[in-house]
Amino acid sequence: MSFNPIQTVIGFLTPPPPTMSEEYEGLEYKWKMFTFRPALFQLEALFIAAILFYVGFYWLGSKANAGSVSAWMKDHRALYQSQFTRPVQVGGIGKDGNSDFFVYSTGRRALSALHTTFTLRPRHDLAQLIYQTVWGFVQLDYSVYDELELNFTFKDTASVPDCVWAVVAKDELKGIKSKRWDLTFTKTTENPNLPQSLTVMSEFADITENLLKPHGPLSLTAVLSDPKILPYFRSLSLTDQPRGRPLHPIPVAQRSKHLILSLALPPNAETLPLIQAAFQLVDVIAGEGGWGVGKAPGKGNGVGLNASLRPETRTKLKKVREELEKELKEEMVREKREEQADEKAAAKRREAEEKLSKLSAAEQKKIMERERKRAVRKTQTKSKVR
Ligand SMILES: *[C@@H]1O[C@H](CO)[C@@H](O)[C@H](O)[C@H]1NC(C)=O
Ligand SMILES: *[C@@H]1O[C@H](CO)[C@@H](O)[C@H](O)[C@H]1NC(C)=O
Repeated sequence: MSFNPIQTVIGFLTPPPPTMSEEYEGLEYKWKMFTFRPALFQLEALFIAAILFYVGFYWLGSKANAGSVSAWMKDHRALYQSQFTRPVQVGGIGKDGNSDFFVYSTGRRALSALHTTFTLRPRHDLAQLIYQTVWGFVQLDYSVYDELELNFTFKDTASVPDCVWAVVAKDELKGIKSKRWDLTFTKTTENPNLPQSLTVMSEFADITENLLKPHGPLSLTAVLSDPKILPYFRSLSLTDQPRGRPLHPIPVAQRSKHLILSLALPPNAETLPLIQAAFQLVDVIAGEGGWGVGKAPGKGNGVGLNASLRPETRTKLKKVREELEKELKEEMVREKREEQADEKAAAKRREAEEKLSKLSAAEQKKIMERERKRAVRKTQTKSKVR
């Protein structure tokens, strides 16, 4: 049976002609000249039900996503307010569609900003939700969950070294380097002070030692070992490099250093201690707020991570970046050269065409014929060589 929704709706709105239903015996409502026979509208009812279901699904899904974001913000409002002079942007939680939400916080020592981003499942979009779920079953390393990211941008300071370092949940390892080019700088190692399910990605062991040892009230290894937190932890990274490989050397003014905490959005405030620890870690790295890698607590401004690293480590870090810089520069030069060659060839072609257009028709034909023969000869010699 063919099913035309427009005809169906029109059919639903117009009363059926009384003649076509002599032998109708089902339920029937009569009002003046109108007769309504529900049994004749089964398809229409199904159609309306499907629309209502879809609209309802969209509405409930959008509400669920917005609800979990504002619930999370509510649980963390006190922390954000204690850390920032402007904990949330004007206008409140930002929204981009029905599954992407963001909060911009600023006004804190050591940080120029914190971007909190929620990338939730498309609960409002039935088709995409089904697609994601099925794909999640088929492709085992395609994990679908509500993602939460805290992206701390450090103020421009020499206390934060140029390095890439991370703790990563092992089930994120596969494929993380394709999403995070910066992590290709690192080597993956086990750490006896961390749970089995986590791994360290570090350029040099010196950095790991400095960051994982206790600093006053902050013990990263203890927080990361908390079984309440562990199921939601995805990664924690300190980085001076972008997520994708840059095509050109990045100008100094555009470089920035970040501490990035990646989580699966917890249903309640399970990960609050980890987020508090992230703020403490920011201070430890930057040597601010009485904290520093090398200092006892509460003794004035501590020493940041950079100064606590061994001089050899700093030299090695610097060398890696200088080499990358050189490589990117060379690529840029090569690219420019190729571009120029292309341009030259195009100009030559244009010139030849112009010349050709000025000739008489007979001469044009002769030259084109010669070109064609030359091309044929070329392909023949090529295939002979093979
Ligand atoms: C780290 O410290 C060294 C020596 O104190 C300094 O030369 C270097 O510029 C610092 N690193 C950064 C990224 O500022
Ligand atoms: C967050 O951090 C990365 C570093 O990986 C940076 O490139 C990115 O632009 C940052 N900002 C936002 C808003 O995500």
